[in-house]
Amino acid sequence: MQEHANVLIAAPDQELAGTVGSALREAGYACTVVSEPDEAVREAASGLYDLVLTGLGPEGGNGMAVLSAARQGDPACQVIVITSESRAEEAVDAMAAGALYYLQAPVSPAELMMFTDRALEYVQTARERDAMREELARRHEFDNIIGNSRPMQRVLAKVAQIARTNVTVLIQGETGTGKEVVARAIHYSSDRRNARFVPLNCAGLVETILESELFGHEKGAFTGATSSRVGLFEYADRGTLFLDEIGDMPPASQTKLLRVLERGEIVRVGSNEPIYVDVRLIAATHQNLRQKIEEGTFRRDLFYRLNVVTINLPPLRERQGDIPLLADAFVREFAEVHGRTVDGLTAGARKVLFRYGWPGNVRELRNCVEHMVVATTDELLGEDDLPEYMLERPGEGSEDLLGSAAGQPLEQIEKLHIARTLELVDGNRERAAELLGIGERTLYRKIEKYGLR
Ligand SMILES: Nc1ncnc2c1ncn2[C@@H]1O[C@H](COP(=O)(O)OP(=O)(O)OP(=O)(O)O)[C@@H](O)[C@H]1O
Ligand SMILES: [Mg+2]
Repeated sequence: MQEHANVLIAAPDQELAGTVGSALREAGYACTVVSEPDEAVREAASGLYDLVLTGLGPEGGNGMAVLSAARQGDPACQVIVITSESRAEEAVDAMAAGALYYLQAPVSPAELMMFTDRALEYVQTARERDAMREELARRHEFDNIIGNSRPMQRVLAKVAQIARTNVTVLIQGETGTGKEVVARAIHYSSDRRNARFVPLNCAGLVETILESELFGHEKGAFTGATSSRVGLFEYADRGTLFLDEIGDMPPASQTKLLRVLERGEIVRVGSNEPIYVDVRLIAATHQNLRQKIEEGTFRRDLFYRLNVVTINLPPLRERQGDIPLLADAFVREFAEVHGRTVDGLTAGARKVLFRYGWPGNVRELRNCVEHMVVATTDELLGEDDLPEYMLERPGEGSEDLLGSAAGQPLEQIEKLHIARTLELVDGNRERAAELLGIGERTLYRKIEKYGLR
C-alpha cells in the first residue's frame, strides 16, 4: 500500500462508487467520490490525485473526458477505467489516451484492490524518478557555472537565494562574462523549470518587430501580418523570459514593457484584448543603464522595475582564480567534442592564460581553449598552441583596468591593486606576490605600509 495516496473515484453510479470508495478507504487510501460528470472532470484536472478510477460508456460516465483531464492536470497521475459491459472499442481508445488499466465489470473487491495497489506503486516509482531527474537537472545547471573565486561565490550564493522567488533580475556584466549562463541557472533552479526559458536579444530589433515578437499580433495588424501570432510573453507563460541587451531596447518599447510589468498582462499588436501572462523576467545588459538614464535613452521607472535584484558578473580579469578552473573544464569539454586525447595544459601555457587580460572574458577563454585543442599535435597544450595574438600582446585588456584610475596618486592605486589581488587569492601572499610579479618580502612590506590585513 502506498502511504498518503490520493484516489479519485468518478462514477455516475453512486452505489458502485460508494462501495468502491469504502473498500479503498478501509485499505487506508484517501478517497474522493464524485458522481456529477462536470465535477468529475474538474476534480480530475485539479492535479491533486495520484490515481483516478472512472467509468466509461453511456452508463459508466464521461470516462474519456475524466481521463484526459487527469493526465493534463498531472502527467504522473494514472487512470484505471472500468466499464460495465464489453466495450472493446472504447477500451482501446482509453488505453491509447493513456489509461493504465482497463477493467471489465463486475470487478471483485480483491481484483480492484490489486490493480489499485499496482497502479499506485507505478505512480510512486514514476514520481520518485521525476524528482530525481529534476534534482539532477537543477544541479547540472548549477554545475554549468564554473567559478570558485570570491566574486563568483557571491554570484552563486545570490542565484541560489533568489532563484525560487519570482523577482525580476537584472544581470550586468561585460560581454562573455556568462550572463546567459546565469539566467539559465536561475530558471532551471526555479519552480518554473518545467516551463520554457525563452531568450530574446533586443539589440538590433526595430520597435515594430520587437513588439510583435514580445506581444504577438493579430492577423492584419500591419502589412505582412497574414496570420495571427503568439508573442514570446505568451510562449513563456509560467516560465522565464530572458531579455538580453535590454539597454538597446527602443524607448517606445520600453514604455510598453513597463506597462506589461505593472499589469501582468499583454495586448497583442492589433488587438485590445488583454491577455494575462505569468512570466518571470530576467534582463541582461553589458551597458551602464544608469548612464543611459542620465543620457535620457533608458527609462528610469523601467530600470527600477527590472532592478529588483541585480547580479553583477565581474570580468574575468577580476577573478583570475577562475581561469585555471575554466581552462581545465574547457579542455575536457573540447577534447571530447573533437575526439582528441588531451590531458591538460603545460605550466607555461597556464601562466600565459593566467596573465592575459581577457577582454572577451569567458567566451574568449573558451574559444581560445577550443582553438588550442584543435590545433595541438601533443597531449599537453603548450605555449606554442596558443593563438599568436596572445603571445604578442600578453597584457592586452589590462590597460582597461586602469581606465578610471587616471589622475589618481600612484600609491593609492598600488594600495587598491594589492588589496584586490589579496582578495582574489584569499589572502595567500605567495600567490599574490607571484601574480603581482614582486617578491614576497616586498609584498609584506607594502602590506605593512598600507595597513592591509
Ligand atoms: N562561469 C562559467 N562557467 C562556464 N562557462 C561559462 C561561464 N561563464 C560563461 N561561460 C561560457 O562562456 C560563453 C559566454 O557566456 P554567455 O553567453 O552567458 O555570456 P554573456 O555575458 O551573455 O555574453 P554577451 O554579453 O556577449 O551576450 C558561453 O559559451 C558560456 O557557456
Ligand atoms: Mg548573452
